[in-house]
Amino acid sequence: MPKTIIISNRLPIKVQRTEDGLTYETSEGGLATGLGSIYKTDDNIWIGWPGTFFNDTAEQEQVTKDLSEQSMRPVFLTESEIHNFYEGFSNETLWPSFHYFSQYAVYDDTFWEAYQGVNGKFCRAVMEHAEPGDTIWVHDYQLLLLPALIREALPESTIGFFQHIPFPSYEVFRLLPWREQILKGMLGADLVGFHTFDDARHFLSSVSRIVGWTASQSIIDNGSRQIMVDAFPMGIDYEKYASLAASEEMKEKQKEYREALHHQKVMLSIDRLDYSKGIPQRLRGFELLLHEHPEFREKVTLFMLVVPSRDQVEQYRELKETIDELVGRINSSYRTITWNPIQYFYRSFPLEELSALYSLADIALVTPMRDGMNLVCKEFVASKLDQKGVLILSEMAGAAKELSDAILINPNDLGAMVRAMQEAMIMPEEEQKLRMQHMQEVLKRYDIHHWVSIFMNRLEYIKLKQMSLATEYLSEEERDELLEAYTNASQRILFLDYDGTLTSFTNNPKHAKPDTELLQVLGCLAQEDNNKVVIISGRDRATLEEWLGHLDVDIIAEHGVWARERGQDWEMLHHLTSDWKSEIRPILELLVSRTPGSFIEEKDFSLVWHYRKVDPGLGELRARELGNHLQYLASNINLQVMEGDKVLEIKNVEVNKGLATLSWLEEHPHDFLLGIGDDRTDEDMFRIMPKEAFTIKVGSKRSLARFNLDNTKEVRKLLQSMCAVEE
Ligand code: UDP
Ligand code: G6P
Repeated sequence: MPKTIIISNRLPIKVQRTEDGLTYETSEGGLATGLGSIYKTDDNIWIGWPGTFFNDTAEQEQVTKDLSEQSMRPVFLTESEIHNFYEGFSNETLWPSFHYFSQYAVYDDTFWEAYQGVNGKFCRAVMEHAEPGDTIWVHDYQLLLLPALIREALPESTIGFFQHIPFPSYEVFRLLPWREQILKGMLGADLVGFHTFDDARHFLSSVSRIVGWTASQSIIDNGSRQIMVDAFPMGIDYEKYASLAASEEMKEKQKEYREALHHQKVMLSIDRLDYSKGIPQRLRGFELLLHEHPEFREKVTLFMLVVPSRDQVEQYRELKETIDELVGRINSSYRTITWNPIQYFYRSFPLEELSALYSLADIALVTPMRDGMNLVCKEFVASKLDQKGVLILSEMAGAAKELSDAILINPNDLGAMVRAMQEAMIMPEEEQKLRMQHMQEVLKRYDIHHWVSIFMNRLEYIKLKQMSLATEYLSEEERDELLEAYTNASQRILFLDYDGTLTSFTNNPKHAKPDTELLQVLGCLAQEDNNKVVIISGRDRATLEEWLGHLDVDIIAEHGVWARERGQDWEMLHHLTSDWKSEIRPILELLVSRTPGSFIEEKDFSLVWHYRKVDPGLGELRARELGNHLQYLASNINLQVMEGDKVLEIKNVEVNKGLATLSWLEEHPHDFLLGIGDDRTDEDMFRIMPKEAFTIKVGSKRSLARFNLDNTKEVRKLLQSMCAVEE
């Protein structure tokens, strides 16, 4: 039975080596806690790092065996990988960059190499377990290259990717020296998910500007595959938190804590040690509250849990010192014999303790500077069975988009933070309940099960969409079928594109003259009475006339501006103007002067910028620049900018091969239709052809055509076999 393979850097269980041997504990962090309760269904497995360095083979075997009983497959990291991949590239490069702390980001090639290496290691682990039909679900920023690596090894596989942290705006993302490789890594997936629409929007903008792939309705088409990008706000296991809070044991615990705290109000703060969480800012806010509002002294206790995290990374070590100092200062300034303003814990707590604290707390202070989602605030809300309690939430947390009934604050605005604390301290119960009830409704509905099922549903949808647009190679059998239909028909129309279809590309388009072989096969097909051979090309009519005019073929030139039926004169299919050229030409000329190797071709009603001879990379970059620049200008004067193979053509919007083909089909009865073409412009022709027509795309790019052929040689072979049928 097909299974789901979840892959994340950290497994939901962390293994530790103690004096008593190996111990297994639940991991902290939103990813592990969020997915931890749902992955154990069917034959699903979770691949990831067990969190500690194991050198000893016997120990590794023991860990592998123990974890496999819980459907987990460990990937062991060496000490240097932990340093360079985990602490280094993941947490000193990507984490700060993606959380808008670029000033902390370290750009180090050794880190990058380790990152590539470990992503490769994870790919090999996936290969050991993946079977056809499995769904592969990669998680988070430590494994951004993995989707593309898996795609390369298993091209047909179904791959979802979800990022649990923010995706920054293009202006910040572009600072990363490895930005393009990172995006291409992620784009190996079929579905790329983020917590918020803003993250998805930022990602799409970076892809368009850095990779050059644009999206339409959140679907990127890379030429051979569609990739969906969307927002999936992650929920929590609501039932788990609500039922835990309802248990007798929890009620007892709560009573006990309440008495120990002398029935004061409790403000709760729970985070991993992380500068993105805004812990010092929160402490300063609390200090200011006590300073400005003496009436709250001895009336409120800040219960602050900081869970140790990434303590080998310098910024985290420094943060720990700052927090220690601040807590010391505040406590020593305001403490009384019977009251300690801050109860500070630097360790992790088991779920039951957390649940008791959530139920107990009157106010939750969740004020990160930046957070992908933040699950702590959701867990607090789910634990509030009596609906009494106030949530103060940072606008910069993904969760703020859903929890608009919280008191929302900007964590940089200390004054606003103090006012929010004051408001929370005195908020009437009625209002607390109303707000809490709204938030609970949202979280109950969009829980973790809903999140998984929506993500999987979208993944399935995009896979089906890919299949419906997939073009398959013209097999022997289908070729025979085509030849049989051709033989049995008496009114055949053959639409043949020229460049890239009948002849290969050359650096100078003038050199792509038809050779004897091509003239022979076209001549043979054209002289047959039952055939109408239509050369449909973007080229100018003079060239086509010169090269093919002596054959019994019809010619459509400039994508359908001009047409000439065999033996007749040229006719204009559309009444067009070319006044616009004077406006567009100078832009192209400037581009040519900046881009050695490129040149302009002028046709009657279009201008074409060619960049086949330009340095690879530069040409694409300039084409994108030109495309963006002209898109706006062009639409105002009824022009269209069309991408071809190493060309960008600017032409009147009314002209395309589809409309030209249509006028042929309307005027000429037919019982056999063939259309062959290789680039974007030929898609218009494929689009308007009836389903039963034999449409063939040259090359492997995704297409509306039914079949593919690899190259011009294969096209000629097919045409020759059609000729042979006649003999
Ligand atoms: N958590 C935990 N033990 C603790 C404190 C917190 O397991 O002692 C959990 C908490 O319940 C939550 C997660 O860690 O599910 C933190 O997730 P969040 O999304 O809030 O932040 P992240 O750590 O992912 O940045
Ligand atoms: C966040 C990240 C997770 C990470 C967790 C804990 O939730 O999104 O990918 O696992 O923090 O961090 P750690 O470095 O301990 O794995």
